[in-house]
Amino acid sequence: MALVSAKEMLEKARDGKYAVGQFNINNLEWAKSVLQTAEELKSPVILGVSEGAGKYMTGFKTVAAMVKAMIDEMHITVPVALHLDHGTYEGCYKCIEAGFSSIMFDGSHFPIEENIAKTKELVEVCKKKGLSLEAEVGSIGGEEDGVVGLGECADPDECKKIADLKVTILAAGIGNIHGKYPANWPGLRFDILAAIKAKTGDMPLVLHGGTGIPTDMIKKAISLGVAKINVNTECQLAFQAATRKYIEEGKDLVGKGFDPRKLLAPGTEAIKNTVKEKMEIFGSIGKA
Ligand code: 13P
Repeated sequence: MALVSAKEMLEKARDGKYAVGQFNINNLEWAKSVLQTAEELKSPVILGVSEGAGKYMTGFKTVAAMVKAMIDEMHITVPVALHLDHGTYEGCYKCIEAGFSSIMFDGSHFPIEENIAKTKELVEVCKKKGLSLEAEVGSIGGEEDGVVGLGECADPDECKKIADLKVTILAAGIGNIHGKYPANWPGLRFDILAAIKAKTGDMPLVLHGGTGIPTDMIKKAISLGVAKINVNTECQLAFQAATRKYIEEGKDLVGKGFDPRKLLAPGTEAIKNTVKEKMEIFGSIGKA
């Protein structure tokens, strides 16, 4: 199956009251783990690529070529979108050229008029090419691959202005944070989410910062119109813990335990388990 735009899978999720996970990838093991899990569980899936991760993998063209070839070689039948995460204006064009099927333009740090103008231009480009486009209003707190946000909540009127441009999906800051949540985190601002939903109608909404959000809050967010949830740090922490255990138990010192395919296996398995747990909570299993 070829890469698909995220539009159809997210509209189905919105209507069916579940969410599709966006799992950020860093390398071949990450992409393979997420694809394998999605196929095993018959779930649609979105592979997220930050600009930093794209650079790490030598460029967006490498990423697109690798993911497309994996879908083919692994006989993946579930819908898969390859999505730029927190794209700059220039990054969006690079990903469109590289063959991504979905992009996020993060214009949240621009004044709203500039965010609107750039998003509007990209809506037209994506429409012509059949790509889905995610836009952002209000910022996600914390830091992800150099993208720093103060975490200001989105203004529902500004959300409406962006939704009216006919973007495919809208990410809005509602007190969510990239990375681990601090112990004193007050939780998601459901009042703001409900106000955004009231202004944006049936636009599928995106919840960034999926790591560590309690299940009840995830379910409530889905009931209020969230159809896409982004997870990055949680897979990294799972990979780290499993790899640390392998090394600390001295398994790399036994026989051919140093073989990278053995060394990376526990971490890779841990990513799969995390993706599975998230898909269960999001309700996307069996929805492919
Ligand atoms: P976490 O790293 O907090 O899971 O956030 C992921 C994200 O929102 C990607 O854009």
